[in-house]
This record gives sequence, structure tokens and C-alpha cells, in this order.
Amino acid sequence: MTSQSVFERILDPAHRADPYPLFGELRETPVARQDDGTYVVSTYREIVALLHDPRVSSDRRNLGAGSADDPFHDRTPSFIGLDPPEHDRLRHLTMRHFGPPHSPGMIDGLRPQMLAITTELIDGMAGRRRADIVDEVAYPLPVAVICRLLGVPQEDEPRFHAWADQVIETLGPGEEDRAERERAREAAVLELERYLGGLTDDRRRRPGDDMISRLITYQGPDGAMTRQDVVATAVLLLIAGHETTINLIANGMLTLLRQPDLLERLRDDPGLVIPAVEELLRYEPPVQLVSSRVALDDITLGDTTIPAGSPIVLALAAGSRDPSHVSDPDRFVLDRPGNEHLGFGGGVHYCFGAPLARLETQIALTELVRRVRGPRLVDDPPPYRPSPILRGPRHLLIDYDGVA
Ligand code: HEM
Repeated sequence: MTSQSVFERILDPAHRADPYPLFGELRETPVARQDDGTYVVSTYREIVALLHDPRVSSDRRNLGAGSADDPFHDRTPSFIGLDPPEHDRLRHLTMRHFGPPHSPGMIDGLRPQMLAITTELIDGMAGRRRADIVDEVAYPLPVAVICRLLGVPQEDEPRFHAWADQVIETLGPGEEDRAERERAREAAVLELERYLGGLTDDRRRRPGDDMISRLITYQGPDGAMTRQDVVATAVLLLIAGHETTINLIANGMLTLLRQPDLLERLRDDPGLVIPAVEELLRYEPPVQLVSSRVALDDITLGDTTIPAGSPIVLALAAGSRDPSHVSDPDRFVLDRPGNEHLGFGGGVHYCFGAPLARLETQIALTELVRRVRGPRLVDDPPPYRPSPILRGPRHLLIDYDGVA
């Protein structure tokens, strides 16, 4: 039996509940070459340098066979899988319909709806003493929000849930059933594309006040989107927009339930939710790794040169706990000042949905902490989903005394 490298152990589901000691080991070699030629980068400064380096491509078509899995990259590249200038054109075309500074704040306009959805979900926990925070709040809230933003009819939300699950669950480490997993993933993405293609055609004929209508009908100085661009962007927003936020909400409740004194502090001072969500993005980031980057040229970092053509993995979760960047990195500090984390990435691909994700999570945590009385964890650690990239609990069972 060959011994596993530190990175292989991080990918191994056996370490999903607490990968952080391994991330610490990984940082001992900031730029670590793997046997398959992939370079894993794990220290804050080096990750930031590569996120901003134009010699690092996000276009997986630049990768040879055996490219790393990446949850965001789909068959028809959406802008997360493109480089400038095409990336910038499509990102700006999408951005102008998403929120300030280009349009009248679609995100803030969603606040009352987000609160109403959250209230309804927590109302559903009344009259019982046990609930699953993942299935009952953390999952349905982001799905409902992103579907409403895009203009997906409410009755179709469960189908999205199933497709998105399939896309994520088929990601994971190991070569064994890779071909089979890729086929299952491809099938789910195809179904999503087919459905969203139909919706796009419908909105072109009868536009509404939703994102898909705006994307398909807009014509401006920076051009227009083709039908294929609109569908690829909608798939990206759907998958990037909810598989991540679920984990932030679930990781947030888990972290607070493990430290009830912090939960009390947040209940007494709800304004703390803003720094608390930033600290969660640093301490328990939903996106642990960014893969599918490729070096377009030889890149030297310290005493290591990443040769042109090499796949690169950026271990964001390791970088955000780098002791040379942040003091006391393994402690969750509710109101940590000057919090600079890598939770939303950086550079040209910096998370497009960060304002939406922050607001949803702030509302969900505030309301859960305020309304659910005497919450206690049932399983610690909870069961985790298999993905090492988008890491989070599969279920989060709590017992409680009632709902206010
Ligand atoms: C990109 C994290 C929520 C849409 C990214 C990236 C990260 C990230 C790390 C960079 C990926 C890379 O560099 O390749 C997160 C986290 C979220 C979240 C932790 C929730 C807690 C959302 C939401 C949306 C969204 C709610 C949309 C509604 C996107 C898009 C990109 C992106 C479109 C690609 C941006 C580009 O390529 O220019 N996200 N995200 N994300 N995210 Fe998020």
C-alpha cells in the first residue's frame, strides 16, 4: 500500500469532519507538487499572488486529460471557466442586472422576501423538539432565493434541488469511478440546460422582471448574450448560488452550537452577525479548494517553479488559516477585526454572489438564533457530504425547546 500524501488525505472523506490539522501540515510546503503533476498552493500570500496572476488560467480547456474536478465548471464554459477578455464581458453583462452599481439593487430588494422565506421555514419547526437545520432551513432558503432571482417558477424548485445535488454529489476524489461520476454529472447538467433553455425561450417571447428575462433581452454597448451564454450563466448562478450558501448557513449553526456562549452573544447583540459571517467564511469556508486553474507559463513562487501547463489547486481553506497572515487562526472570533479571508476567492473571479450570500446567511443565522429556544446539537460531528471542494454537513440535527 502506498502512503497517502497530505493532500490525498485532505481529499479522503475520512477527514472531512476536521481537515484543518491536515491543512496546517499542507502549509509546511506552500507550493506542493503532487505525483500527478498538480501543484497545490496553501499559504495566504502565494494564493493571493496566483489569484491575481494573468498567467494563471481558469479555462479548463487549457488543461490536459485528467483535469481536476470543479463544481462550477460546466460543459459549455460559463464565465467562471473563461479568462479575460471574454470572462470580463460576460461577467459585466450579468453584473449589470444583479445589483449596484449598475442597476437599482436587485439584492437589497430581495431582503423582505428572504426574511419571509426564512420566517416560514422556521415556523415549520414549531410544535416539534427536533429538526434538521440543513434540510429545513439551510437548503430550501438559498434554492428559493436563487430560483426567484432567476425567475424559475416555484413549483420547479424541487427539480433544481435534485439536479444541483447530482452535480455536486458526483464530484469527489479518486479515479475509481471517475468516468461514471462524470457521466452522471453530465446528465444532470444537460437536464438543467434543457430546462433553462426552455425558460430562456419563453422569457424572450414574454419577458418578466427576472434575471433570465433581462439577460436574454438586453442589448447594449458591451454587446448582448447569446442563448447559449444565457443558459450557461443561469446554470452557473444556480449551482454556485446555492450549493455554497447552504454550507455557510449550516457551518454557521454548527460553529455557534459548539460554542453556546457565542450563540448567546449573537442573540443579545444581533449586529454581530455581520463580522460573524465574515469569520465563518474564514474559519469554515464552504469553498475549501479552487481547482481547474492552469499555469499558462512557468511561474516561480519562492524556490518552486510551476511549469507551464500544470494544473493548480488553490487551498483557500488553508490560506485563510495561515498563521503568518492571521493571529490565532484556529480560533473562531465572533468580532474579529480587519478580517481578510479567501472565502470568496479573489482577483477577476472574486465571487459574484458575495453580497447575496452574506445577506442570506446573516438573515438565516439571526432568525435561527433569535427564534429557536435552547438549541442543542444531536450529533457532533454531523455527517458530511462527500465533496472536499464544497464542504459542509449533509444533515445538522438539533434538539430544541420550542420556537418563538
Ligand atoms: C465565484 C465562493 C455564493 C456566484 C466564487 C469563488 C468562490 C466563491 C471562492 C471563486 C471561484 C474561482 O476563483 O474560480 C462562494 C461562497 C458562497 C458563494 C463561499 C456562499 C457562501 C454565491 C452566490 C452566487 C455566486 C449566492 C450567485 C448568485 C458566483 C459566480 C462566480 C463565483 C457567478 C464566478 C465569478 C467569476 O468567474 O467572475 N464564489 N460563493 N456565489 N460565485 Fe460564489
